[in-house]
This record gives sequence, structure tokens and C-alpha cells, in this order.
Amino acid sequence: MTITVLTLFPGLFQGFLESSILARAIARGLVTVRLVDIRDFAADRHHVCDDAAYGGGPGMVMKPEPIAAALEATAAAGERIVYLTPAGRLFTQKAAEELARERDVTLLCGRYEGIDQRIIDSFVTDEFSIGDYVLSGGEVAAMAMVECVARLVPGVITGESLEEESFSHGLLEYPHYTRPEVFRGMRVPEILLSGHHEKIRLWRLARSIEKTMKHRPELLDSDDLPAEVRELVRKIRKEGDDDGRDEGP
Ligand code: ADE
Repeated sequence: MTITVLTLFPGLFQGFLESSILARAIARGLVTVRLVDIRDFAADRHHVCDDAAYGGGPGMVMKPEPIAAALEATAAAGERIVYLTPAGRLFTQKAAEELARERDVTLLCGRYEGIDQRIIDSFVTDEFSIGDYVLSGGEVAAMAMVECVARLVPGVITGESLEEESFSHGLLEYPHYTRPEVFRGMRVPEILLSGHHEKIRLWRLARSIEKTMKHRPELLDSDDLPAEVRELVRKIRKEGDDDGRDEGP
């Protein structure tokens, strides 16, 4: 898969692309990340890429001509062109899985107040936000998307690791432990030392549900949860209710 990133700050990606799983995926030829400096496509002598907003107001807007020229020079016909913006729809694991099935994807990073709307109208196929907060530009959001999508490309990490992860079953992940068995007086839960795979699986599932109840209870209302999970959720909720009643008013 080739991910092309259009940005005014290609240097921000350097360390990021040279580290860990992503660097290995790139070295193995499974993922290619092309960095395109939008400034290289500004036609004027000073390579100006921003201008004041029509209608007034604070902040600058990214000019359309350099972005259009960069997209026309780099994007293939029919390629998804994703604009990173806090005004986009939320980027989720499901959206990442969908993008990972594409052969090529272009990520367009905005700066300042954003890009001229006419670029969105004429080139952009998807607008994504990585969360309800405002970054100074799309670059960090693009890195999050590159990392998230790249690890879903077949061969980048093992299918088993992917299976276990948060959101792949609609739940948050269970807690993890490694050596030592006792750390500052805190013991690893006994069941994880038992070697009993089915009991461990059920323990992890119960912890996942508890964690999801605490941090993201709305995820438990999804109809997509497996029957086993829905049944356990019902049981854990009932136990909670019964405990509440025992304590009395
Ligand atoms: N650019 C600035 N903030 C952003 C966000 N939350 N998601 C995507 N792109 C952005």
C-alpha cells in the first residue's frame, strides 16, 4: 500500500517513519509512505501557500493552487483523498480497516484555519477528524492514521495480535501483566499463572467488559457484540445491581 502525505511540514514525519513497526513495514516493502511538500508546488518566487480569508476573520487559509497542483502531480485516478480536519467525521477502527483495503491513499494535512473549500469540493473524497480536539495542523492526525492503517496491511503484524486488540470485538482491552510476579507488593492475578486457557479467556473477557463499563459504557449497547459478550454484560450488570441492593439505602 502507498500512503502519500501532502504537508507543509514533511520534516515532522522523519523520526516517526524511522521507528518500530512502521519502519519495518516500510523496509519490507509492505507499506510505502511518500512525503510531498506542498510548498514545492507554489508557483510564485516566495512559495506562498496561505492567504487571508475572504469575508474577514482571524487566521490564514491555505491557498488552493499549490494543493491542486500537488494533488494533480501525485494522486492516481480514483484514489481516496483524505483531508484531516477537526470538522471531519470521526476516524475509527472501522474506517481504518476500510482504508487499509485501498491500494493507494492520499492524506492531505491542513494548517492555519484550514484549506480553501474549493479543494474539498473538487478533490477530497473523505474528511476525517481523529477526535474532538483541535491540533495546530493535520500532521499529527495523519501520523495517527498512517500508523493505524499500516498495521492493518496484511503481513505488517500477526493476525493474532490484531484479533486481541481493543475495538476488534467492540470492547476495550483487558489488563496485561509481565514479569516479575510480584512488583512492589502487587501480585499478578493468580489465574494468569494457572495455564488454564479457557479460564484465562473468560477472566480477560470479564475484565474487558468491566473496563468498557467504566470508560466507554456506550460501546456495550452495540448490537454487534457477540452473544457470549452480551450475556456476560447482563450478568455483570446484574451482580452490580444486586451488590447495590445489599448495601441498602
Ligand atoms: N487538524 C486539526 N485538528 C485535527 C483533528 N482533531 N483531527 C484531524 N485533523 C486535525
